[in-house]
Amino acid sequence: MKVGVVGVTGAVGREMITDLADSGLDIEVVPLASARSEGAVIDFRGKSLKVRAFSIELLKGCEFTLMSAGGDFSRNHAVEISSAGSVVIDNSSAWRMDPTVPLVVPEVNPDDLQFGVGTKRIIANPNCSTIQLVVPLSALKNAFGIQQVIVASYQSVSGTGQKGISELAAQVQGHFSFKEPPPQVYSQPIAFNLLPAIDKIDLAGHCFEEEKIIRETRRILKLPDLQILATTVRTPTFNCHGEAVSVRLARKVTLDQAKELFRGAKGINFIDSTDASELPTPRMVAGDRAVWVSRVRLPLDADESDWLQFWVIADNLKKGAATNAVQILELLAAGGCGQNHDEAND
Ligand SMILES: NC(=O)c1ccc[n+]([C@@H]2O[C@H](COP(=O)([O-])OP(=O)(O)OC[C@H]3O[C@@H](n4cnc5c(N)ncnc54)[C@H](OP(=O)(O)O)[C@@H]3O)[C@@H](O)[C@H]2O)c1
Repeated sequence: MKVGVVGVTGAVGREMITDLADSGLDIEVVPLASARSEGAVIDFRGKSLKVRAFSIELLKGCEFTLMSAGGDFSRNHAVEISSAGSVVIDNSSAWRMDPTVPLVVPEVNPDDLQFGVGTKRIIANPNCSTIQLVVPLSALKNAFGIQQVIVASYQSVSGTGQKGISELAAQVQGHFSFKEPPPQVYSQPIAFNLLPAIDKIDLAGHCFEEEKIIRETRRILKLPDLQILATTVRTPTFNCHGEAVSVRLARKVTLDQAKELFRGAKGINFIDSTDASELPTPRMVAGDRAVWVSRVRLPLDADESDWLQFWVIADNLKKGAATNAVQILELLAAGGCGQNHDEAND
């Protein structure tokens, strides 16, 4: 099977190559990026592959194309690539709210991997902070029902790609010699700081990252009216996003019932510990493919409650991007995708 990877030199693209290499799939990779990277070399399963500048001809014969080259690239090229024969699995925000494009997290809504006749053969990967949120929310929804979600995120600089990583590294290094470079990627210095909004802020005061979490979560969980209150914060960490989540359930539960659910939930690594040294942190979780849930608790002094609190953390470049995309590819390659017959009959 031939698989194109567009954006292969980027923060997400590099992880896609690792995840594809670790998958059991028998694949030939076509590694593409911008003209800036023409001739760069990547390793795939011990073989050196030359990166080529993107052109549609190079993707001929690819059954799948994984894309992480940004929203503009995607809007300009995804349809063309899918018309040339590839199923496109796209990491950007370009197609996530298009009702004809499935928005999929394999543990949550694999049945949405369907294409209607005549629709684009594009699948959207959700935003990194959405993916790790919907995995535990979906388990709670299916077991108890959910009515309201309050989430505050703590998001690393790799969420902004290679340029975010470089800016934090340069500011940290420069800080102690009084040569800290001024911010270029972020609106204020990110080193030793917290930025209380991610991306642009709209006139009503919500930032785009908050809008993405809210709209994508509602779509994936098929709860269009779910009330979600989100606050997204950029932190001076290199990798992994953490989220402090409070959920109001449709019925009261005990702590044991909630823990039992997370213990058996698909895709979740549940840490049932009150020892702070065992709690999952960005440095503990970096490079891992799971969604980690810990600090599960009810409101203070409650024996049972319809409110539940927890901490969820995942590697934004892995499960938040590359791993989710490769899992979608694995599902499709195994035949887990079909034509939507309802639409086919229309
Ligand atoms: N970082 C995350 O946690 C995360 C999570 C979920 C989704 N995403 C999304 O994934 C996409 C990539 O993010 P990233 O963090 O990997 O960014 P990045 O580190 O800046 O990498 C961007 C990649 O896109 C390539 N590229 C840019 N313009 C191109 C063009 N015109 N033609 C072909 N390739 C082009 C770059 O190639 P060169 O190296 O040649 O410039 C590079 O390989 C974005 O849409 C982002 O929103 C990111």
